[in-house]
Amino acid sequence: MKILIVGSGGREHAIAWKVAQSPKAEKIYCAPGNAGIAEYAECVDIGAMEFEKLVAFAKEKEIDLTIVGMDDPLVGGIVDAFEAEGLRVFGPRKNAAILEGSKAFSKDLMKKYGIPTAAYETFDDPEAALSYLETARFPIVLKADGLALGKGVLICNTPEEARDGVRQIMQDKKFGCAGNQMVIEEFMTGREVSVLSFVDGKTIKTMASAQDHKRAKDGDQGLNTGGMGNFSPTPFYTPEIDAFCQKYIFQPTVDAMASEGRPFKGVIFFGLMLTADGPKVLEYNARFGDPEAQVVLPRMKNDMVDVVEACIDGTLDQIDLEFTDEAAVCVVLASDGYPVSYEKGFPIRGLENFKGKEGCYVFHAGTKFDGQGQIVTNGGRVLGVTALGADLKEARANAYKAVELVDFDNKYFRHDIGKAIDEA
Ligand code: AMP
Ligand code: GLY
Repeated sequence: MKILIVGSGGREHAIAWKVAQSPKAEKIYCAPGNAGIAEYAECVDIGAMEFEKLVAFAKEKEIDLTIVGMDDPLVGGIVDAFEAEGLRVFGPRKNAAILEGSKAFSKDLMKKYGIPTAAYETFDDPEAALSYLETARFPIVLKADGLALGKGVLICNTPEEARDGVRQIMQDKKFGCAGNQMVIEEFMTGREVSVLSFVDGKTIKTMASAQDHKRAKDGDQGLNTGGMGNFSPTPFYTPEIDAFCQKYIFQPTVDAMASEGRPFKGVIFFGLMLTADGPKVLEYNARFGDPEAQVVLPRMKNDMVDVVEACIDGTLDQIDLEFTDEAAVCVVLASDGYPVSYEKGFPIRGLENFKGKEGCYVFHAGTKFDGQGQIVTNGGRVLGVTALGADLKEARANAYKAVELVDFDNKYFRHDIGKAIDEA
């Protein structure tokens, strides 16, 4: 098969790496890709939002299967554009990707179908939001409705901060049109868990659990980022919690989408908080997580192409998803200054140290070739270093050893990825 992957981050590198292991994959393309993906795929200089060009490319190259990794094209309707031309594509249609694309939609869905989540109100008028705050309890959580690179959530401790937040989101449009509407919700406390799943419209099969580290600095300090590292599985996600989530959250979400005439095919990423009142949904994403894909896919035993095809064909019930007993830890190497401002273009040294290393991978996020064959930094999150181990402690030790194999100017990473497991 000829397979096209759409995206350019560490997630797409992990997908390309996994797809390349399938005997069905004869040729892989990636648009636009990056310097690491180029090892497995021919990178094509077409942006992920250039649907017409992507469709034309898929037709010209007779692509058999397209896998979309990123949220923006999915929410923008890339799957509909491919399907309209009779092309086979993996991911939710626009009317289902709204599960991630609009927080107001997803909150209303959860309320309607009794799926546990934080209490909330939706606003499309800043004055109404400001007057709601007068009687609210603090801390409180403000969320821009639309996509905001994982940064559109503000946790406000005081009425003043919250009023300022409403103005930033709805009046100053800090997150662009994502802030045309907003959700204000109850602040929850507990451990966060990510559960990714494959969905074929009616059947859902969950993957191994993971735990993200969203804040930029050690000890969960600093700003929210796309994710600074994670580990899988998380010991806090017990079989009892899983049974509860399968029954009251996962299948009900898939059924709710089908009942709404928006059958979901693709990956649903459940962002959960394990509260004292039980697990609750923090957010849905309509795609693999980044860097969740970098710890979950190395543990998946199945042929990824088989699973993806079963999702498209509605035969996921016939697939047994299997994961190794090993643990995985991914440490993100970022450019110092991320997520605010940072320099790019520094040569990356030591990538060859990962060649042929068992159970240890370097996934590229923001990298590119400089035109002379040298790989240089080209983004905030530069690399994801993933290592496996017999248990989480071993995987963590291996990952932090592997972090030293590679270097670039302004290399920055958190030193406490997976530290939470010491409390398990
Ligand atoms: P989201 O993009 O909705 O996952 O939010 C980003 C991060 O904000 C989450 O991973 C949580 O750490 C935090 N967060 C979101 N909603 C809440 C909430 N209701 N209570 C506490 N923290 C939250
Ligand atoms: N790591 C969180 C996300 O991909 O949204």
